[in-house]
Amino acid sequence: MERKKITITDLQNKKRDGKKITMLTAYDYPMARLVDDAGIDVILVGDSLGMVVLGLDSTVPVTMDMMIHHAMAARRGTKYAFLIGDMPFMSYQISKEEAIRNAGRFMKEAGCDAVKLEGGEEVLEATMAIINAGIPVLGHLGLTPQTVSKLGGFKVQGKDAEGANKILEQAYALERAGCFAIVLECVPDRVAKLITKKLSIPTIGIGAGPDCDGQVLVTNDMVGLFDRFVPKFVKQYVKLSAVISDGLKKYKDEVEKGIFPDATHSFSIKDEEIKKLKKK
Ligand code: KIV
Repeated sequence: MERKKITITDLQNKKRDGKKITMLTAYDYPMARLVDDAGIDVILVGDSLGMVVLGLDSTVPVTMDMMIHHAMAARRGTKYAFLIGDMPFMSYQISKEEAIRNAGRFMKEAGCDAVKLEGGEEVLEATMAIINAGIPVLGHLGLTPQTVSKLGGFKVQGKDAEGANKILEQAYALERAGCFAIVLECVPDRVAKLITKKLSIPTIGIGAGPDCDGQVLVTNDMVGLFDRFVPKFVKQYVKLSAVISDGLKKYKDEVEKGIFPDATHSFSIKDEEIKKLKKK
């Protein structure tokens, strides 16, 4: 079957038809190409890039300019997947106008298809303003890394009835505001299942159990490219750090021993040309 570019309707139809949505992050051209070629539905240029690519301690220092730079590269590698730009901390909290301007940059400068905002009622105004400006918004509830300090650390959210109910209320509010889907991060599996059942828009889980309408992981985590720490919800499908490290050590060894480059990796010149050169 001919592959077509994924749209919001495709994602919402997947929920309706009981088919799972697949989503992964990418921050540059080569990884976006690999993710797109693998047939993943959605590529998120996540602000997780601050930690897994830029080596920062959290996502808080990530700026709009950093996000746009990486989103532009990911766009060039994305042909079919639905591409989402993650609004970084303080790009949508100051005013509705600033939120619209920054969301607009993802669309105009980086060619994204939508943006993602973290939070519930506190970001409703910004969410509605962006949607009213014609930009689709993916919500993000549960553990919201940009406000981890307010949440008291990287902890599972909604572990008691009151907390779970709050997430459900926020999910309803984001659905009413017009979000096309919601990420649920670090929420108990049965809470995520309930929210998924109650909402008409898709839920995409990360550390939220198997019953969400889709799943997302940070690609660098699941391919073993970032192992400063590996969260419980991450499954490492490959251990690329070890593979790359082996290759790097082999290269060092071969250069030092004069094994690399050999004739197959060198360029030749005809004998007569060398003779002429020597005569000069
Ligand atoms: O920044 C990110 O990569 C995210 C995902 C973990 C959902 O927000």
